[in-house]
Amino acid sequence: MEKHMIRYAKSQGFAIPQMNINGLIWIEGVLQAAENMQSPIIIGTTDKNIAYLGGYKFILQTIKNKITAMGITVPVSIHLDHGLTVEGCKQAVDAGYDSVMFDGSKLPIEENIRQTKEVVEYAHAHGVIVEGEVGAVGGVEDGLVGQVKYADIDECVALVQQTHLDTLAPALGSVHGKYKGEPNLGFAEMEAIGSKVDVPLVLHGASGIPNADLQRAIQLGHAKINFNTEINISWSNQLRKTLNESTELFNPQEILKPSIQAIITIAEKIIQTCGSENKNTAFIKNR
Ligand code: 13P
Repeated sequence: MEKHMIRYAKSQGFAIPQMNINGLIWIEGVLQAAENMQSPIIIGTTDKNIAYLGGYKFILQTIKNKITAMGITVPVSIHLDHGLTVEGCKQAVDAGYDSVMFDGSKLPIEENIRQTKEVVEYAHAHGVIVEGEVGAVGGVEDGLVGQVKYADIDECVALVQQTHLDTLAPALGSVHGKYKGEPNLGFAEMEAIGSKVDVPLVLHGASGIPNADLQRAIQLGHAKINFNTEINISWSNQLRKTLNESTELFNPQEILKPSIQAIITIAEKIIQTCGSENKNTAFIKNR
């Protein structure tokens, strides 16, 4: 389902938003936003958070239970973000995830290709699609700090052709977390890579990238865009505000309700940015 969803988005010049979750209220918030906007959505769970969130099976079942309880009708895909080991990716596949990312970007390219290929072979045999990465998205993610390393075009082509992966995340200047200064995306490289590989591209580290740059990235072949930080900033700002304004509050539901609404509001804005609102029915017909 997700492969078709992303390919359809690429053909129509929009992107499917991936929104990462950090607990139950993120699941509720992003699902509600997707339903409100009639947008397909990819729910991302990053490898470093899997144990905290209760493990693959628990996460998957919780999302499915919420989809049923909330009466969600839009297509929802469940994705392992930045899978760090082949074994972890296989576990996500076994649990029933729709897609996995194997992030071999820190490995020498030959090893990245070898391990990505192993994930692709296992995942495809189970009807699951795979995202790979070349280069390095900079910034902080889950406590890890990394430098930006622009993806090499030949390495991108080699990874796609030799592994038969489904989507490619070429790191081209974006960072996870907050940007220090202005984002500096490599559009020339993006265009070159987009013209040399036929798989849809994935943009990581989208929080903080100006809308015009995101639109250009979509035009140059990005059909999946990942968001995490922006959602967490909206959630935490609202939570602080609620607690500061009402110092007597202690009922968890009352405290959390406005911050869930903050997640819904930012998630709806992300959907608009990606252009995926009301892009639901055309996809469902082909499912
Ligand atoms: P941000 O945290 O910058 O939104 O990036 C999210 C991401 O790329 C997850 O893979």
